[in-house]
Amino acid sequence: MLRTVRDCRRNVVNSRSMGQDMKFLITGGAGFIGSAVIRCLIADMNHDILNVDKLTYAGNLESLTAVADSAQYAFAQADICDPEAMRRQIAGFQPDVIMHLAAESHVDRSIDGPLPFIQTNIVGTYTLLEAARTFWSSLPDAAQSRFRFHHISTDEVYGSLGATGSFTEDTAYDPSSPYSASKASSDHLVRSWHRTFGLPVVITNCSNNYGPYQFPEKLIPLMILNAIEGKPLPVYGKGDQIRDWLYVEDHARALIAVATKGKVGHTYNIGGHNERKNIDVVQTICRILDAFAPDHPPGVDRYESLITYVNDRPGHDRRYAIDASKIEHELGWTPCETFESGIRKTVEWYLGNRPWWSRVLDGTYRRERLGLGTGV
Ligand SMILES: NC(=O)c1ccc[n+]([C@@H]2O[C@H](COP(=O)([O-])OP(=O)(O)OC[C@H]3O[C@@H](n4cnc5c(N)ncnc54)[C@H](O)[C@@H]3O)[C@@H](O)[C@H]2O)c1
Repeated sequence: MLRTVRDCRRNVVNSRSMGQDMKFLITGGAGFIGSAVIRCLIADMNHDILNVDKLTYAGNLESLTAVADSAQYAFAQADICDPEAMRRQIAGFQPDVIMHLAAESHVDRSIDGPLPFIQTNIVGTYTLLEAARTFWSSLPDAAQSRFRFHHISTDEVYGSLGATGSFTEDTAYDPSSPYSASKASSDHLVRSWHRTFGLPVVITNCSNNYGPYQFPEKLIPLMILNAIEGKPLPVYGKGDQIRDWLYVEDHARALIAVATKGKVGHTYNIGGHNERKNIDVVQTICRILDAFAPDHPPGVDRYESLITYVNDRPGHDRRYAIDASKIEHELGWTPCETFESGIRKTVEWYLGNRPWWSRVLDGTYRRERLGLGTGV
C-alpha cells in the first residue's frame, strides 16, 4: 500500500482534472485538518482559497503562517450558524467548491457539554447548506454542474466494530457519542439536500487523524506534551480500544481528490490501514521520545513509566477500522505514510515547534481530564 512521495504529489496534481484553477471556500480552515488542506492546496496548486472560521478555542491562525501572505489565500472570521454571514461570504467569493470542515470535534467535550455540538455541527451545517443552495440555484448551468459541496465527516458515525471487519460506505449508522451523533445528523442533512434539492454533494468519512498542528487535547499530542514535561500519560480503561490512524497530510490529499474528482452524491471512506491499540500508540510515542528527547524530565528514566490508567470514557467505542478500497480504486488515492513514519514525523514536529503549542497552552486549555459526563 505504500507509495513514494512523488506518487503522493501526483495524487494532488491529478486533482486538477476539472481543467482549471478553482475557488475553494473552506470552513474550519484554522483547525487541524482544515489548515492542512489549505497548506496543501496552496503548496501544490494555483487555486484560490477563502478560509471561513469562527476561531473557537480549536481554531488557530498560527497554523497558517506559511500561507497567510499568499495572494491565493484570504480569511474571514465568521460563524457557520450565522445565515447572513454565510450568504455574504459565499456570494462575495463565488466558490466552485465548498469544503465544510468547521465543527466541534472533541468527543470528551461533547460528553461534558453537547449543546455546541448540536449548534455548530447540526444547525451550522443546515445553515451552510441553505446558503450554498441559494448560491448554487442562482448559477448558470455550467457553473452549477461544476459546483460541489463537500462535507468532511468521521468514521465514528458507524459506531463500534467487533474484533473483525471494517466500515464500508454501506455500513449502517450507529453513533455512540453526542459528537458522532451530531456528525451523523449532519451527514444525513447533506445527503438529503442532494436528494431533495439536487445540490451536488460529496461526503467523506475518515478515521482518526494525527500529525502536526493538532490541538493538544487529542490523544497523540496530549501524550507527547505530557511526556516531555514529565506529567502522567492518562490512558482510558485498559488502552485496548483500536483506532485506524491516518496522517493528516494523507487525509488532506484524499479530501482534495474527492472534492475535485468524486462522484456527485457519493460517500468515500478514508483510512490509513493502520489499526493500533491506544496503549500501543502511547508506548510507541514513549519509545520515540526516549530516542529523540533523551534528556528525560527529573525522576523519569523511561517515558513509559509515566503511563497511568484512568477510568474509561462513557460509551467508548471499542474498535474502528476503515475499508478505503472505494477511494483507492475510483480516485487512485492511497496513504503515503505508515503509522511508524507518520508518528515519528509527528513527535519530531512537536519537539521542534514548542512556540506553536506553548501559545496554544497559554489559552484556557490546561490538559485537564474531560469527558466524564460531569458537565462543564
Ligand atoms: N480529527 C480527526 O481525527 C477527524 C477525523 C475524521 C473527521 N474529522 C472531521 O474533520 C473536521 C475537522 O476536524 P479537526 O480535527 O480539524 O477539528 P478542529 O477542532 O481542529 O477544528 C475545527 C475548526 O472549526 C472551527 N469552528 C468551530 N465551530 C465553528 C463555527 N460555528 N463556525 C465556524 N468555524 C467553526 C474552529 O474554530 C476550528 O478552526 C470536523 O468536521 C471533524 O468532525 C476529524
